Amino acid sequence: MSKPVDTLATIKVPRPVPITTTRFRPPKKNIPQTKAERDAFLREIRNYVAEWNPVPPMPLEELDVHARRILAKLGYESDETYLHYTAVCLNNEMWRETLAEIPYERRLLLMPKCLRVEEKCPAPFDEFGLLCKQCGLCSIQDFQNEAERLGYAVLVAEGSAIVMSLIQTGQIEAIVGISCLPVLERTFPYVEAAAIPSIAVPLLQDDCINTTVDIDWVWEYIHLTSDDQTRRLDLTGLHNEVKTWFTPEAIEQVMGPATGRQEEIAREWLARDGKRWRPFLTVAAYEALREERGNPIPEDLKKIAFATELFHKASLIHDDIEDEDHGRYDQPTLNAEHGVAVALNAGDLLIGEGYRLIGECQASDAAKTQMLLVAARGQRELCRGQGAELVWARDPQPLTSKQVLEIFRQKTAPAFEVALKLGAAYAGQLDEFATVLEQYSENLGIAYQIRDDMDDLGARCRVVEGLSRSRRSRHR
Ligand code: IPE
Ligand code: MG
Repeated sequence: MSKPVDTLATIKVPRPVPITTTRFRPPKKNIPQTKAERDAFLREIRNYVAEWNPVPPMPLEELDVHARRILAKLGYESDETYLHYTAVCLNNEMWRETLAEIPYERRLLLMPKCLRVEEKCPAPFDEFGLLCKQCGLCSIQDFQNEAERLGYAVLVAEGSAIVMSLIQTGQIEAIVGISCLPVLERTFPYVEAAAIPSIAVPLLQDDCINTTVDIDWVWEYIHLTSDDQTRRLDLTGLHNEVKTWFTPEAIEQVMGPATGRQEEIAREWLARDGKRWRPFLTVAAYEALREERGNPIPEDLKKIAFATELFHKASLIHDDIEDEDHGRYDQPTLNAEHGVAVALNAGDLLIGEGYRLIGECQASDAAKTQMLLVAARGQRELCRGQGAELVWARDPQPLTSKQVLEIFRQKTAPAFEVALKLGAAYAGQLDEFATVLEQYSENLGIAYQIRDDMDDLGARCRVVEGLSRSRRSRHR
């Protein structure tokens, strides 16, 4: 789908650009020398993005290919002088629409201290960077004041550590930055890996002192906003809400009262712990695809979100039995606590309950059939993947990375696929989105399992380290 050029026109015109600074320094050689040339580059890049709709985050090599095409259009066919500059500007423009949809309060403006007038700047520094004194000698104060007025967090600092930690808090969803090309090149892999929408206006010099930037570009990017912000969901809020759905009382409301000790044991397990990623994905998919946005989450959708969590929790019980594991969530596993037979049966019960809830929801018969098929196929795939690992474990042979990834795809991706597809089916949109949800789930499942195994390994190493430390101290 190519992006209509008009979308660029829907972005609000920013307030006039401040001109506190009239400093002029010639740009570095690898940057187009005049403002008119740089504006021409930007125009060409925007046309290119509108025509080809390249999707970020994009690996460096691919970015390079597109940048070369743009350079050819601009008459620099075999001249690489402006290659990096073009790639950076292209990367910015690819993120443009995404950035526009992110609320100001979730953005970070990151400026380098070298934008100041080094010999005259009165600003001190603290551990977070420069504390602007608003002397008016450089553009930092204008950017900072305006961005803060809009709701941005603002930092005048170097170093990716503090930025990465801000990103990890989940408060920051996008970055508008100003930076020199060498720093951008160095930090690009991190930003790309974090897939954080980020726009970085290149400094015109890279000598780390008294640098300048195209002020109007920064100004425009800071103000980027889209009239339609509803497309962006508050995912953190949604996840937090879903997490509240699994208290014993809330479970009873959705599933009805439990009868007998076996059912209580199964429900306790459901309530016990967990990150609730899968039911969250169900609700998120539904919210993204539902016809009318902004309405409250239908109570009935909880049944479907529960079904995904029930299937998942059942698979954990069975996994712990199969692996003879005795601990999960820092507590005994169900098999350790109640014995294999009762645990096994609790898992079976939860699976049945998942199917019951799907059957009992208020979706159309067609949608229910779709959902039941999705669940059944997902369960089949999961058991085949889990089975591949179990059969392998009877006589373990070295596996190639590809084989390992294939097992991950089979055993971990289905639960995500079921979660997302159930949400999409409930919204009546499964046919249209099935393929993309499959691809997404595969990647998510593999990545999730790699991370989970790494966490496991880390935990084991810490235990071993702890043991050897205590052994060492005993020998002392
Ligand atoms: C555990 O999944 C099994 C894997 C697929 C790695 P989670 O770590 O998401 O389990 P909960 O939902 O938080 O218990
Ligand atoms: Mg296992």
